[in-house]
Amino acid sequence: MNNESRMSQKHLEIFYANSLFSIPNSKIMKKIYLPNINTTKTLAGQMAKKLKGGEVLALSGPLGSGKTTFVQFLAKALGVKQAVRSPSFIVLQVFKINSKRITHNAKLLCHVDCYRLKDTKELNTLGLHDYLGKPNVITVIEWAEKIKKIFPPKTIWLKFKYAKHGRMALIRASNRHGIDFF
Ligand SMILES: Nc1ncnc2c1ncn2[C@@H]1O[C@H](COP(=O)(O)OP(=O)(O)OP(=O)(O)O)[C@@H](O)[C@H]1O
Ligand SMILES: [Mg+2]
Repeated sequence: MNNESRMSQKHLEIFYANSLFSIPNSKIMKKIYLPNINTTKTLAGQMAKKLKGGEVLALSGPLGSGKTTFVQFLAKALGVKQAVRSPSFIVLQVFKINSKRITHNAKLLCHVDCYRLKDTKELNTLGLHDYLGKPNVITVIEWAEKIKKIFPPKTIWLKFKYAKHGRMALIRASNRHGIDFF
């Protein structure tokens, strides 16, 4: 592939991703094939190493596309001792991070699942704004597509999709920090 076609391929991918997510401010995009849960574990582990606190990860994708699996591996990699579950009724849960790394400020992992959320007001009641984007908190939100409007511009978007074997993750972020995990 020559340089010109490589460029246009890249632009096409970004255009495609933008139209898929229809969210402004995201410039960088990466597509990662996750043929099995071990690759999801690797992705979560790589991301956990880079997160410093204050990040917001917005997870979208259909039922069973691997969002909670990703959060479970992320929590483990961050040193969360409790089990992270796919919450049936609990929409927001906060876990203590026990990481020995001294290169970050993250003390809490806030896990939100919006599947059963009635409206955005419910999130205020649950206290999401006490956590979202706070420097010592990493926030991960499943079914983020339901509440697009609340996200800060620096949000890292992960869209999970079914692949023929396993899953595909499309990652979008407004800066390289959000995307250089692999
Ligand atoms: N990369 C992968 N390859 C193959 N299977 C996977 C992968 N990631 C997750 N799975 C499997 O998919 C199933 C559903 O995963 P998970 O519960 O994480 O999905 P979800 O997106 O959180 O679903 P929901 O929207 O219902 O909460 C699980 O059995 C899990 O092991
Ligand atoms: Mg889930």
